[in-house]
Amino acid sequence: MALHPLHGLVEQLETQPIIFIGGKGGVGKTTTAAALASYYASQQQKTLIVSTDPAHSLGDVLNVRLNNEKTVISPYLDAIELNPDVIVDEHFAQVERTIKAYANPDMMPKIREHLRLSKSAPGAQEAAMLESMCHHLVEAADAGYEHIIFDTAPTGHTLRLLVLPEMMGAWTDGLLAQQRRQAKLRSVATHLDSHNQKDSQKNDVANPFAAKKSDRWEQAVSVLERRKQLFRQAGLLLHDRTQTAIVLVVTADVLPLAETKRAIEQLEDSKLIPAAIVINQLISTTQSDEFWRRRAERQQHLLQDIEQSFTKYPLYPIYLQQTDVRGTDTLSALLKPV
Ligand SMILES: Nc1ncnc2c1ncn2[C@@H]1O[C@H](COP(=O)(O)OP(=O)(O)OP(=O)(O)O)[C@@H](O)[C@H]1O
Ligand SMILES: [Mg+2]
Repeated sequence: MALHPLHGLVEQLETQPIIFIGGKGGVGKTTTAAALASYYASQQQKTLIVSTDPAHSLGDVLNVRLNNEKTVISPYLDAIELNPDVIVDEHFAQVERTIKAYANPDMMPKIREHLRLSKSAPGAQEAAMLESMCHHLVEAADAGYEHIIFDTAPTGHTLRLLVLPEMMGAWTDGLLAQQRRQAKLRSVATHLDSHNQKDSQKNDVANPFAAKKSDRWEQAVSVLERRKQLFRQAGLLLHDRTQTAIVLVVTADVLPLAETKRAIEQLEDSKLIPAAIVINQLISTTQSDEFWRRRAERQQHLLQDIEQSFTKYPLYPIYLQQTDVRGTDTLSALLKPV
């Protein structure tokens, strides 16, 4: 069986600044992400672990209460748990500020109502979460982190997040093009207006309201441009294999295996090639108890399928531990060389 020693995963990802841990629900993503983060931190490599799971499981695994701001776990380890509700509120507050800068004040109550409804629209949380993740992703190196590790929500979700930067980039492009067209119309209108004024008032002073409007427009465009730039940068980082490693966690069970196969196809379609696959919760075959021996045999059978299906990717096993793996010491011990 071509399983690599688990410590090889640590070595393989040693130089990767960005690590995404994905996989079906409950397979061990948080455990794997927290183990890698704790291990690198124990080796004095400054690491940030970011969870996008609203269920607080990263905090539970690290035995610390986390929130949207960085919490120091140890000298080399910081953690963040992105809360979609808080992020969506902040995101829409920012959108409102942007709109306020160039919208007619009479329109604001209607716009506010529209934004309030948009908050609960499908995809709003994902878009806001994505923007926040992209910020962390792009800023991690500047903030002095050697690794930023994302403990993500189950596979389908993560995949959408990974391809969203391109979609959001295209969407922002559309908005910018629309803005440009409007600006052109506006400048023609302003031009005509100033001509009319010249004719009627015989003075050469440009319309001050028009000038202010174009300032506001510049502001709105610069927000969109910055956003587009953020998604572009994040998209480039995600597709650069020297920067980003995607690690999929699977268990030797039928459903997680089927989902991982689909996930890999989708990732490959988006030119996002996984770096490694972790097979978690393996049971050693030297069991005396019949129940456990049968389960181990069943896993061995599925392992053959895993091996045949994922020939392109290094496979790393994590064995089922007697108890839940919690706290940075226990977590990093999981990945120590044997
Ligand atoms: N190798 C292991 N040995 C023992 N327990 C494990 C192992 N891996 C994970 N667990 C336990 O299994 C449960 C699920 O693991 P974890 O929370 O890491 O999965 P997850 O993929 O992050 O789940 P979710 O999709 O809900 O976020 C936890 O209680 C965890 O402690
Ligand atoms: Mg989790």
